Amino acid sequence: MKLTIIGTGYVGLVTGACFAEVGHHVTCVDNNAEKVKLLQSGGIPIYEPGLDELVARNVAAGRLRFTHSTKDGVDNSDIVFIAVPTPPQPDGSVDLSFIESVAREIAAAMTSYKIVVDKSTVPVKTGDKVAETIKRYCKAHADFDVVSNPEFLREGFAVEDLMKPDRIVIGVRTQRPVAAMREVYAPFNAPIIVTDINSAELIKHAANSFLALKISYINAISVICEASGANVIEVANGIGLDARIGRRFLDAGLGFGGSCFPKDLSAFIKISEQLGYDFALLKEVQRINAAQMDRFLKKITDTLWVLKDKKIGVLGLAFKQNTDDVRLSPAIELCQRLLKDGASLRVHDPKAMDKAKDILKPGPAITYVEDMNAVADGCDALVVATEWPVFKKLDLDRARKSLTHPILFDGRNLFDPQEMEQLGWIYKSVGR
Ligand SMILES: NC(=O)c1ccc[n+]([C@@H]2O[C@H](COP(=O)([O-])OP(=O)(O)OC[C@H]3O[C@@H](n4cnc5c(N)ncnc54)[C@H](O)[C@@H]3O)[C@@H](O)[C@H]2O)c1
Repeated sequence: MKLTIIGTGYVGLVTGACFAEVGHHVTCVDNNAEKVKLLQSGGIPIYEPGLDELVARNVAAGRLRFTHSTKDGVDNSDIVFIAVPTPPQPDGSVDLSFIESVAREIAAAMTSYKIVVDKSTVPVKTGDKVAETIKRYCKAHADFDVVSNPEFLREGFAVEDLMKPDRIVIGVRTQRPVAAMREVYAPFNAPIIVTDINSAELIKHAANSFLALKISYINAISVICEASGANVIEVANGIGLDARIGRRFLDAGLGFGGSCFPKDLSAFIKISEQLGYDFALLKEVQRINAAQMDRFLKKITDTLWVLKDKKIGVLGLAFKQNTDDVRLSPAIELCQRLLKDGASLRVHDPKAMDKAKDILKPGPAITYVEDMNAVADGCDALVVATEWPVFKKLDLDRARKSLTHPILFDGRNLFDPQEMEQLGWIYKSVGR
């Protein structure tokens, strides 16, 4: 099939590459000219495991191409996917101006029947607005259908998630686009759920809120574990083996961040309010998440006392492992708060240092360190802020000798408390 994706970011680029991999002919559109130029010359603007080979292979096979022209994309496809940002506004609601402007651009370019599919995460009832907009701005009065097809990929595992999805949700206003949408996804052999468009939009917000809730739940349990001398990992294992609960998303730590959970939670709370429901449960999820960071920072100040003129090594800047994405990263927030209290930092991340430099400018207070084993050099303490598996291979002996005192604050529970104590560390983690 001929498919176009508008917005070539974490979702659009990976989706485009995976659609091409199963044999579709895909045009990826982006209005960022620099990004398009980079992609056309074989570069990849984001880090996502396996993505570079996938893109190269499909570009070479003639199934994947990049353009900055929405008209080019719309003219050359039957189905147009929207994967542009839906960032939060100060009041928690979603800024839908990117979606609206793409809807207008598609409408202006359409001269024949198209299926317009929203893949961006949007509040319930957005599909109706997109349909109204296209109808209003399509001078050619071309026929069309609007579909909601929310994306559930995890950054860091996006290629895997797209190639082997748990499920595909297709929300429609009429049955007309269903057969074509099933054909798009047939090669992925995943369960396909066809719903009304409002339900599809709600499924995405409900799913992300539930996952965030699970994280806040275990973080709340971690507080009780610390107060009672229990171990949150053992508790998580004990409850997670119950098939009704499941072990995933039960890792206590610094809390969730990233470009999805915080904004999707706020958006879901806001749209619920507009629909007449006070989603107090989700407000509590947000509160627990914020408190988790406060509690971790208190551990640092309780131990180091005054942070002014202290040097702290920070391992991890990305919002989670396997990605270079630093949007609303808890690790970045941690750094900002340590800096605000007067500490200077030596920081390292396997993939996210370039993107972090846009937020945490290198300077006298921040040194970016290429070798993770050199981060501790001359520091007063070390902090693990992102759960990169490679940090488990840190040269602990060298780090212990490089620090003025061997203190490690592990915000992601990567190390074993007993082993660390035996090795002579003052080791503080979360919920243990
Ligand atoms: N990142 C994730 O893990 C993830 C997962 C599921 C869903 N989502 C949702 O998918 C959507 C996109 O997220 P993302 O992380 O891929 O964003 P992103 O910022 O990485 O990418 C969006 C891209 O859209 C481009 N763009 C903006 N306006 C455009 C326009 N008018 N025409 C063409 N291109 C335009 C931007 O230049 C950018 O490259 C959001 O709604 C997000 O909530 C994201």
